[in-house]
Amino acid sequence: MSRGTYYITTPIYYPSGNMTIGHTYTTVAADTMARFKKMQGFDTYFLTGTDEHGQKIEKKAAEAGVTPIEYVDKIVAETQELWKLMNIDYDDFIRTSQERHVQIVQKIFRRFYEQGDIYKSEYEGMYCTPCESFWTPTQLVEKDGVQVCPDCGRPCQPMKEESYFFRMSKYQDWLIDYIETHPDFIQPAKRANEMINNFLKPGLQDLCVSRTSVKWGIPVDFDPRHTVYVWIDALSNYITALGYGTDHDELYQKYWPADVHLVGKEIVRFHTIYWPIMLHALGLPLPRQVFGHGWLLFGADRMSKSKGNVVYPQPIVARYGVDALRYYLMREMPFGADGNYTNEAFLTRMNADLANDLGNLVSRTVAMIEKYFGGVTPAWDAQAEESVGESLRAHCAELPGLVEEQMDKLQFSQALTEIWKVIGECNKYIDLTQPWVLCKDPEKKGVLGNVLLTLAECVRFVAVLIQPVMPSTPARIYEQLGLNDPALRTWDSLSRFGALPEGLQVRKGEALFPRIDVKKELEALSGNEPAAAKPEPKSEKKEKQDKKGHSAPEYPAEIAVDDFFKVKLQVARVLTCEKVEKSKKLLKMTLSLGPDGERQVVSGIAQHYSPEEMVGKQVVLVANLKPAKLAGIESQGMILCAASADDSELKLMTVEAGMADGALIG
Ligand code: ME8
Ligand code: MG
Repeated sequence: MSRGTYYITTPIYYPSGNMTIGHTYTTVAADTMARFKKMQGFDTYFLTGTDEHGQKIEKKAAEAGVTPIEYVDKIVAETQELWKLMNIDYDDFIRTSQERHVQIVQKIFRRFYEQGDIYKSEYEGMYCTPCESFWTPTQLVEKDGVQVCPDCGRPCQPMKEESYFFRMSKYQDWLIDYIETHPDFIQPAKRANEMINNFLKPGLQDLCVSRTSVKWGIPVDFDPRHTVYVWIDALSNYITALGYGTDHDELYQKYWPADVHLVGKEIVRFHTIYWPIMLHALGLPLPRQVFGHGWLLFGADRMSKSKGNVVYPQPIVARYGVDALRYYLMREMPFGADGNYTNEAFLTRMNADLANDLGNLVSRTVAMIEKYFGGVTPAWDAQAEESVGESLRAHCAELPGLVEEQMDKLQFSQALTEIWKVIGECNKYIDLTQPWVLCKDPEKKGVLGNVLLTLAECVRFVAVLIQPVMPSTPARIYEQLGLNDPALRTWDSLSRFGALPEGLQVRKGEALFPRIDVKKELEALSGNEPAAAKPEPKSEKKEKQDKKGHSAPEYPAEIAVDDFFKVKLQVARVLTCEKVEKSKKLLKMTLSLGPDGERQVVSGIAQHYSPEEMVGKQVVLVANLKPAKLAGIESQGMILCAASADDSELKLMTVEAGMADGALIG
């Protein structure tokens, strides 16, 4: 029975070069969500694709000595190969060069012109070719006396040409009202404030929507010297793929409006300002949500094709399998926040979460059923008192609900954290109940059986719940559990804890995720990590002196209150936290200052706090401290701690619950 429809999209990516782990990140997230909804019984539709027109691709093709379509055909084929490798189960892959798209974009453009939303004028401005963006004087950045692109830092050129413009300003007040009355439309919510305060309230500029200097684009059919300029072309894909505007618009009727457009935060503006205005002008409903996720970074830089500092997924998948990478991408950073990809963090997590926690649980459970029950699951013994497991059984029964709650907010990392809490509890439960002792007492046979059944049932729950993130691992778990009945592998089968039948023939298999030697694997992977990601060598001495990132000051006897107020103290929440490679003392964190954005801070507290316990904590940040480099990593502020005289004890300063992130202290 269907629970309704669910339409999810990724951005359509530029096939100007091969897709990176960054594109993979969004695509895996969308795939995970689609699989989750499908498992729950939704009629899902998952769209991805490529955004093929524009000057950049025209140029790349010319450099390669091929036509634009030849150039993109090759990259599109490789992209589709990559999605196959990543186990991406999309329903459609739209290419903006396809006739089905081109025709409808022309129709949409003509309609805008006819109804007065588009007018012809002249464009004058500074243009960044690699980014295909015009920038206003206030947006440009000056570097060594040259006007450079605020996105990529490369010089911009003055450009003037006849263009069509979309009258965005006309819809500005309507859009502000829409955003303010639809709090779920832009997520995370802080991005809605950014849009309203930075773009809408200051006044929308009309948008240039055609070019005469770009040939590789969709011709404006009533004025063929012009081609449609990227965003009207690109954004329309979300409806042209559904057959909007054709005689066969069944998919459009069924799935529009989309439930969520997943996009990187740099294109939230296009999806929450231009796209809603376009749809409104067409008289169409708006997508229910645009979710702007964070970036995979290298150091402080976004990984990007145009900067060349990228990691590709293929070598990682070839060595460790697709599920390990999918797990890492969905687990490592909260969806919405930025985070670093490093091979070391990936390998460490693989060992800890997959080899140790999950892998051991499955292998211990199966091995004990083999050893104590001849490999066949016993019946539940209602006579045998087994109270230690009561809370675990209750917790696991609630797990589907906890996972659903996080998934519905696209909080993949939190959903996985919930699952791994149960896994951790199971491993603890084995240590507490000590089956290897129980087995020595024949009168405890019933208790022993109940312990193993509890574990096996928890493993079944875990296997079903990880499937959207790790599509190929559950089958390997079911095989070891001897769980052949498809009805016991479904979301609905999790409505009751204790459905695992007696008489299953378990079979110990290969380790799900073998433990790896991180040092050795780091060497093997080193070719796939840009040099910039490796920490700069640093001397021990420097680190000692730096302690918490500063040396102990000598205090004056008294200071004026004005001196104190020069220090801007703010409440900040730890979004991500990880150890700094090769440093015993340093932790690197991303902090949220609420409406004031995010900061990266490096702090010398690793011997007192683990990254896991830091995440989610509210700390006190010196927010106006001049940025400094620690172990080669930029630290944008300092978090406050109390320390004993010899520094052997250290405790974070925090605030009592209930303060908003970014709140001022003083
Ligand atoms: O912007 N971290 O295409 P694009 C996180 N064609 N996500 C990343 C990432 C990173 N380092 N690098 C890429 C375009 N992405 C337009 C979109 S949509 C109508 C048109 C992901 O090839 C992320 O989703 O530059 C980002 O928004 C997208 O790829 C940019 O892809
Ligand atoms: Mg981009």
